[in-house]
Amino acid sequence: MMTVVETAVAARVADAVKIYGVGDTQVRALDHVTVEFPAGRFTAIMGPSGSGKSTLMHCAAGLDTLTAGSAYIGGTELGGLNDRRLTVLRRERIGFVFQSFNLVPALTVRENITLPLDLAGADPDEEWVATLIDVIGLGDRLRHRPSELSGGQQQRVAVARALAGRPQVVFADEPTGNLDSRSGAEVLGLLRQAVDVMGQAVVMVTHDPSAAAHADEVLFLADGRLVDRMSGPTADGVLDRMKAFERGEGR
Ligand SMILES: Nc1ncnc2c1ncn2[C@@H]1O[C@H](COP(=O)(O)OP(=O)(O)O)[C@@H](O)[C@H]1O
Ligand SMILES: [Mg+2]
Repeated sequence: MMTVVETAVAARVADAVKIYGVGDTQVRALDHVTVEFPAGRFTAIMGPSGSGKSTLMHCAAGLDTLTAGSAYIGGTELGGLNDRRLTVLRRERIGFVFQSFNLVPALTVRENITLPLDLAGADPDEEWVATLIDVIGLGDRLRHRPSELSGGQQQRVAVARALAGRPQVVFADEPTGNLDSRSGAEVLGLLRQAVDVMGQAVVMVTHDPSAAAHADEVLFLADGRLVDRMSGPTADGVLDRMKAFERGEGR
């Protein structure tokens, strides 16, 4: 008897092509990439600088549009949405964490966390918000402004903000890029916890092998193509793979 195990897909791109510019200055940032980001899993995207990591994330998250191919959040194809519906989808179904934190300076920690819900006109689930505040360990800083926090604390707020609306998927672009290793490890631990405890889908772009080792699977990009993938990654394993690509093997 055959058993079919269906894994829900939080996001995916199919035959994705992204070309920037025209003529001589044309850059093919994504070259026919097909990939799925499963629900309840932590996926890392790695590759050398300029390999298309950010482009893949931005196109998968509806922050940028593909030149060809398609991008889906759950079952919704992004190419079929007008700007207004795309904005609503990003707000309601996607959480974002950026390298530069992107908190609103004039708002308090608590206001920053509930901002996506406020923008969506949704009542915050107080129990959920309390859980998130507890998990990020900033319960005594709720009335502080971002400028009064360390970089690591600010990024923990940004992670809580990304999780506040229980999005279908959280996209994080180099979330530890501006952090020292200890703060970075805390943020990675939070993302890992979101996956393990909350069943969150997380997709993280990074060039740091030890960051990628927190993921369930690592996808490797080179020259806009998906060239390899690794399940159950270790920092050493990822580093070896990166070095092999730099030597030009396995392309
Ligand atoms: N807005 C843009 N206009 C022109 N070229 C771009 C733009 N964004 C990215 N690129 C180019 O696309 C390629 C992939 O970039 P990117 O996705 O940022 O790579 P990564 O995140 O892996 O460093 C690079 O060659 C980059 O220079
Ligand atoms: Mg990038």
